[in-house]
Amino acid sequence: MSAPLEIHIARKTYRGAEGGTVEAVRGLDLKAAAGSLTALIGPSGCGKTTSLRILAGLDTDFEGRIVLAKEARVGIVFQEPRLLPWRTVDDNVRLVLDKPDLFDPAPLFEELGLAEMRNRFPTELSLGLARRVAIARALAIEPDVLLLDEPFTSLDETTAQRLRHLVVEIWRRYRPTTLMVTHNVREAIQIAERIVLLAPRPSHVVAEVMLDLPQEERDEAYVEAKRTEMVRDWPGLVA
Ligand SMILES: Nc1ncnc2c1ncn2[C@@H]1O[C@H](COP(=O)(O)OP(=O)(O)OP(=O)(O)O)[C@@H](O)[C@H]1O
Ligand SMILES: [Mg+2]
Repeated sequence: MSAPLEIHIARKTYRGAEGGTVEAVRGLDLKAAAGSLTALIGPSGCGKTTSLRILAGLDTDFEGRIVLAKEARVGIVFQEPRLLPWRTVDDNVRLVLDKPDLFDPAPLFEELGLAEMRNRFPTELSLGLARRVAIARALAIEPDVLLLDEPFTSLDETTAQRLRHLVVEIWRRYRPTTLMVTHNVREAIQIAERIVLLAPRPSHVVAEVMLDLPQEERDEAYVEAKRTEMVRDWPGLVA
């Protein structure tokens, strides 16, 4: 299932410990059609995680509004896997479910290459495996909206590439409306249907780039040509 969504953040400020304020987001407006796959790119600290948290309903202290069906289920993969260390892989995934006893995680674990890992604890997992568990946990609720916050950083390139393919496959199969934050322009060009560029803090949308070729037809030459184009058009924002 998938749901359309809109983010309108007029202003989001944080109060610092010393009484000062940090304006993280100002005038960010973004729409995503049901079942679409958007990559968000922006400089470090510009407010990407802040915006995802607001969209997921984890932070309600902002000026603006989110348009998302009340019954829409939102799956989120955080920047860090955030697994409970004292629970097994299986339990980490079950914990997010309303009716864990009715859930058969076997097909999902199989698909994510986690079948052998179900009874392990997070400390026994590599970062790549922990990321997969975090992805499994987000998918277990059968999300209408899937939010991925830099899900492939700090992974070796082979593992990252495998997980990128996996995410595209999963998106194709279940079609959650997907927003993926990344610093990696090549990765965004490989995966997304649309790339949204965000300004430095306080963030807002600077540009949108549509990618019309199906993902499996995007070879290295395509990725490189698009990247060169984007670096030319938005120097400073795209590396
Ligand atoms: N809880 C908080 N209290 C105070 N300031 C915060 C808090 N969370 C984030 N900020 C500040 O808000 C700004 C935006 O932070 P955010 O984490 O959303 O950025 P980001 O775009 O996700 O960055 P990165 O790419 O490094 O993950 C930053 O300047 C950050 O220091
Ligand atoms: Mg972040």
